[in-house]
Amino acid sequence: MIKKTFTLIALSFLTVMSCKNNSEELLFPDCSTENITYTEHIEPILSTCVGCHNGPLGNDGIDLSTEAKVLEAANDKSKGAEGRLLGAIKGLSGYAKMPPGSGATPLSECEIKQIEAWVNANLED
Ligand code: HEC
Repeated sequence: MIKKTFTLIALSFLTVMSCKNNSEELLFPDCSTENITYTEHIEPILSTCVGCHNGPLGNDGIDLSTEAKVLEAANDKSKGAEGRLLGAIKGLSGYAKMPPGSGATPLSECEIKQIEAWVNANLED
């Protein structure tokens, strides 16, 4: 009896642990970071940003209205090695967290991962 109970507890513990390890996959079953393209992934994610970052007079000089301009913001290392785009969407210290304001919906972990993968793939020289 004691042995059975122990086995049961051990099994439920293992089940809980395996769920915990997979939680990110369960939350984002489609979070692929392969073959990310500007038109298919990045432009739609950043569409909520463009209202404030459209053209050369975009807030803080950040223009997110074209692929080249987004890469320019990503490659701007004036505030640190992450670049201003990744620094801002990850909310790293030293960067203004984007999107701004306590009421704003932050980008999801998956969206941030996809942007990071795309930036890394496109800034490789
Ligand atoms: C409501 C308007 C608004 C929206 C929406 C917005 N931004 Fe901003 N953004 C600003 C303002 C204002 C600043 C300057 C903030 C500051 O310096 O404190 C800024 C600054 C930035 C910077 C420079 C940050 C730094 O510290 O160098 C980046 C990069 C940026 N935004 C990207 C984004 C991205 C990506 C999104 C969408 C996820 C976004 N922004 C959405 C208004 C906005």
